[in-house]
Amino acid sequence: MRLRSLSGAPVAAAIIAVAFSAGAQGQDQKPLDAADVADGMRLYQQKGNCQTCHGWAGDGRKTDSQMPDGANLRDTKLNRAGLVLTIKCGRLNSQMPAFDKFAYSDGRCYGKTQADLKSYPTRMPDPPATLQQREIDLITDFLIAKIVGKGPMNHAKCVEFWGSETDVCKEFPK
Ligand code: HEC
Repeated sequence: MRLRSLSGAPVAAAIIAVAFSAGAQGQDQKPLDAADVADGMRLYQQKGNCQTCHGWAGDGRKTDSQMPDGANLRDTKLNRAGLVLTIKCGRLNSQMPAFDKFAYSDGRCYGKTQADLKSYPTRMPDPPATLQQREIDLITDFLIAKIVGKGPMNHAKCVEFWGSETDVCKEFPK
């Protein structure tokens, strides 16, 4: 069921947000929708271009050697809220970009503004594109369904990840 597409939008969204942040690991409670996960995977690969720094499998084996070394997202300890926050706001004093267009314009991220960012030795790069909240939620669905806590990539997981035996999986011994 796609709760997000119900029409009572803001109220429903607020209730859902509270419900899903209630547990210690909010990510275990939300039933993930396969279509959302597929959309999130596409956003991760294309619009967000996350794999240039994090690798297609999220394991930190980046696909572009010129890009900064992204964290291994398969090993992350962040829960859903932490993942969403990091994608929206980036990570201060690191090369993880902020994908929310207004991240540092109104104090919504860590209470900081553009001017504050200048005081960090490592500057966040600009994101390849900015993302809407809905897109960030979809990417997070994908991360939780297919990346976070899934252990190192291997042949079986690769085939499952792509949905079939593909060329990229050849590097992993069967
Ligand atoms: C320009 C390179 C770059 C891009 C593009 C990028 N990241 Fe990152 N990301 C990083 C780096 C570097 C870190 C580690 C930051 C630090 O030092 O804490 C990181 C950290 C993270 C973390 C925190 C992991 C943890 O356990 O603390 C998450 C989650 C994350 N990235 C998700 C994403 C997603 C999703 C995208 C695409 C929408 C993305 N990143 C795009 C470079 C990048």
